[in-house]
Amino acid sequence: MSISATDFNFVRDLALTKAAIVLEPGKEYLVESRLTPIARQIGVQDASALVQRLRRGGEAQLQAQVVDALTTNETSWFRDRHPFDALGKFMIPELVEARRATRTISIWSAACSSGQEPYSIAMTLLDVPALAGWNIRITATDLSAEMLARAREGHFSQLEINRGLPATHLVRHFERAGTGWRVNEQLRRMVTFEPHNLLNAPPLGGPFDIVFIRNVLIYFSPATKSEVLAKVRRALRPDGFVVLGGAETSLGIDDQLVRTEIARSSVYRLKR
Ligand SMILES: C[S@@+](CC[C@H](N)C(=O)[O-])C[C@H]1O[C@@H](n2cnc3c(N)ncnc32)[C@H](O)[C@@H]1O
Repeated sequence: MSISATDFNFVRDLALTKAAIVLEPGKEYLVESRLTPIARQIGVQDASALVQRLRRGGEAQLQAQVVDALTTNETSWFRDRHPFDALGKFMIPELVEARRATRTISIWSAACSSGQEPYSIAMTLLDVPALAGWNIRITATDLSAEMLARAREGHFSQLEINRGLPATHLVRHFERAGTGWRVNEQLRRMVTFEPHNLLNAPPLGGPFDIVFIRNVLIYFSPATKSEVLAKVRRALRPDGFVVLGGAETSLGIDDQLVRTEIARSSVYRLKR
């Protein structure tokens, strides 16, 4: 049985107001499949019964759990590769020159899901000899408490490891943990994971030299995209870099962020 139109609309409003996630009509099946496991977990009959309970209100934790379940957390190591080439070969060398006095670089990985992105950033930085002895801060944030817990733990199955992690990096930065792998202590210490909703003010740790905000704007309306990018801009140093996902652009959304092509990757900088 699929959920009723009224229940779907209720969940759609919840996703929109709490996370800015737009659920188009036709996503009823997705909503039902994401809500059913939670319904079972709390001992109610089905997704509709769960929505009934949410309607009664006063269950902030259950509400957050439902919103969390509606997020799409698809990710992989060194996703799309080019942004990480651009990071190691161009962005970091430029910042090494510009930050000689402070020897500090701050990076924000916004909407980091289970951590593959910030850990890929950390591995890229460890490959840059000029950064030895520098103070590197990587702040990684996401709305999903479940994803953040996994990211912090740094434990990945063999299947997850197979999605883009080069064998050389596996050997250097991971330890065996049961049938999977765990990110080693050195890498874990480089990344601070914090809960953060992109609708809110930027997290602590800024201003940032680089912001990775990839494959999350696609879930938002054009107005929310503008709002979020304006917040990102305000958290960015004047000579900083913003990296979006392959299917995302600031074009027509934020005219203060100008696209440049670096290492076959689109990178955005503040208009001067
Ligand atoms: C598809 S993943 C992208 C992961 C990673 N950035 C990448 O490109 O591989 C999208 C992430 O955005 C998060 N997200 C969705 N809405 C959000 C919001 N309003 N604030 C913060 N994170 C959000 C989800 O929880 C999910 O982990």
